Order: sequence, then C-alpha cells, then structure tokens
Amino acid sequence: MTAHLVTGIGELVTFDPRYEGPLGLVEDAALVIADGRIAWTGRSATAPAADTRQDLHGAAVLPGFVDSHTHLVFAGDRSAEFEARAAGRRYTGGGIATTVAATRAASTEQLTADARALAAEARRQGTTTLEIKSGYGLDIPTEERLLRVAGTLTTETTYLGAHVVPAGVDRTDYLALVTGPMLAACAPLARWADVFCEPGSPVAFDEDESRAVLTAAAAAGLGLRVHGNQLGPGPGARLAVELGAASVDHCTHLSDADVTALADTAPHGGPVATLLPGVELSTRSPFPDARRLLDAGVEVALATDCNPGTCYSTSMPLMIALAVTLMGMTTGEAVRAATLAGARALRRDDIGHLRVGARADLCVLDAPSHTHLAYRPGVPLVRTLDLPATVGRAGDR
Ligand code: NIG
Ligand code: FE
Repeated sequence: MTAHLVTGIGELVTFDPRYEGPLGLVEDAALVIADGRIAWTGRSATAPAADTRQDLHGAAVLPGFVDSHTHLVFAGDRSAEFEARAAGRRYTGGGIATTVAATRAASTEQLTADARALAAEARRQGTTTLEIKSGYGLDIPTEERLLRVAGTLTTETTYLGAHVVPAGVDRTDYLALVTGPMLAACAPLARWADVFCEPGSPVAFDEDESRAVLTAAAAAGLGLRVHGNQLGPGPGARLAVELGAASVDHCTHLSDADVTALADTAPHGGPVATLLPGVELSTRSPFPDARRLLDAGVEVALATDCNPGTCYSTSMPLMIALAVTLMGMTTGEAVRAATLAGARALRRDDIGHLRVGARADLCVLDAPSHTHLAYRPGVPLVRTLDLPATVGRAGDR
C-alpha cells in the first residue's frame, strides 16, 4: 500500500491535543494517508516523503461531517405542506402519514435510487458519515425494506418503527408490534433503535411507551437514540440518560434538571444532545438554547434531520451557519458539533477527527479557514478531493 501526501493545507482541523486550541489547529499543514487512514499530520515544512502527493494551495481541511440524524429513505413530496406553512395556512394533507403512504407504494429500486441521490448530495456538502433511520414504513415489510436500503448506504442504520402510531391502528396493538415481531424482523438490519418521545402528541409515544420501546430494543442488542423534547417539555432527555442512549435529539424544550443530567453524564459517555436547527428554520420555530447546554458542559452535536416534512436539507454547512448566527455557538463549537460530537453521538472513535489512525474522511473547503462555513452562509465551499486509488480505503463506513 502506498502513502499519499497532501500539502498546502492553509488550516487543518485535527482535534489532536498535540496541536493548538480545542480544534487542534495546524497552519501551513500537510497530512499523509495510507490504507485509507491518516498516517501523519504536521507542518508542511516537516512532511515526510511519500509515493504520491498533491498541493491544496491554502485550502482549509476538516474532518468530514458526521450527520448523525437523517430520515433519508422515503418517497413522495410534501412541498404543499411547506408552502401552506409558509403562507400561514392550516394544512390538512396528512403530514407523516402522506410520506408513509407514498413510501409503502414505492418500489425498493426507486427508494434506493432516491436515497442514493440524497446521500450523494450530502457527500458534495462534506458529509462523509450518515446515520439513516427507517420510520416511514410502520409495517414489518416496509420497515425491513427501508433498513435494507439504508444499509446499502451506511452501517449507521436505525430502526424507527416507533416513529408514530399509524392511522387506523390501535396504540396498544402497534406498541406490541414495534416491540415484538417488527423489532425481531428489523434488529438484524439495524445498529440503533430510536423512538419519537413526545407525550403531548396524539401520534408519538409517551414516557411509558418510549421506555417499553427502548428497553425491548436494548434487549435485542440495539444501541439507543431518542427523539425528545422537540415540541414541548417531556421525559425524552431523562429517559435517554436513564437507559444509556447514545444521543437525545432535538432538545428544544429542556428543564434545568434535564440539562444537569446530560452534563453530569457527559464525561462518562452519556447521551450527546443533538440539535437539529434545520427543523426550527423550516418550521419557523424557536431554536434550541445551545449556549445553555454548552455552558453546562453538555456535548452538543449538530445534524440535519433530513426528512420530507420538517427539514428537507442535507446540508451540514447550513446547520453550522445556523448554529453560529442564530444559536450563539462559536465557529469552533459548531465545527466540533458537526464532526467530533456527531461521531460521539454514533459512539465512533474512528471518524470526526483527523488524529493518526482516523479514517481519511476529509472535508476540503474552497476557503482558508473553518470560519468561512458560517461567515459565508449558503455558499457551496466544499470541494471534491480526488485521491489516487492507490491510497486505499478504510473499509465500511
Ligand atoms: O425528526 N420528530 C419526528 N419526526 C421527524 C419529522 C418527520 C416528518 O415530518 O416527516 C423529525 O422531525
Ligand atoms: Fe428526526
């Protein structure tokens, strides 16, 4: 296997404690890739010899973005719902149920082609790892199909049978299905399980139901994630702490006790608080209080929540720009949230940083520093990096 040297990096974000500040920054940097992994980082002037090399002429390089929360596999379009919301009209078109109907009716080939296109769109914006949930099937054959499609794109697949109770199905019966035969069919196809825990909602799951879903999933060997505290205060964050979930996502309405519990468990691998500001942007809702979480010592991640209803965006640079301009995060905190903290939300230590041994998943910017991700909102700064085939790949992502 050959070694490939990348030089002329204006600013390299490594998260390596050997380097400067919380981002582990190196200026005038270089790195060496071998076997699809980072083999060396440092100043260009001290770079070792390698078999092949390329010069980035001052571009900034970051770890590829880790989008730890998406619903990429679905069919249908809900632009009419978005349009109605934009016009301040009540919309009665069906919401999630519309997507469920379209998804059940779609062929696996169509679902695969559409999800592949969205994953490629994410890749063009610097995302190198995606988590993908099921949850638009809500019956055994479709939930299985969605996880198989997701599994062609990522190893970070999540069983979300407990997205909502489908129309016309009794709650108790559906809970028995989700924690019984549907879980048994889906567990071999998933790494994670998730639940939409929102006690005020007629279709989502309350505390006892969510605990039942998560406990059954853990017994089936799945790691846990929670959609929690999105629409109002509730037990989501507390349950995530209690049951050892990797992440609690949304976190828009947290009590002081929730924040304290997340902060207390953060140093011991407790749940990451994953904020999804594209949802608040697209639904014109108040943003979560990122500063309160960060100041308390909670690990905060950013993800897109890409889905056809509440945020149809695959753009991690947009989430970084929102976090900085509207949520009070510093550029460094937002970059960490989109990379290292996203990796922690997936309990991965091989991605989200560029220390020696990490996967060589790079995000190269047509800009001199990571600050430009927020300083130039909406501008496509991510550049494709063509590496020689001889540098090798690090295996499944
Ligand atoms: O993460 N919270 C629930 N589910 C999605 C929205 C799904 C949809 O509207 O289709 C979310 O925001
Ligand atoms: Fe979601």
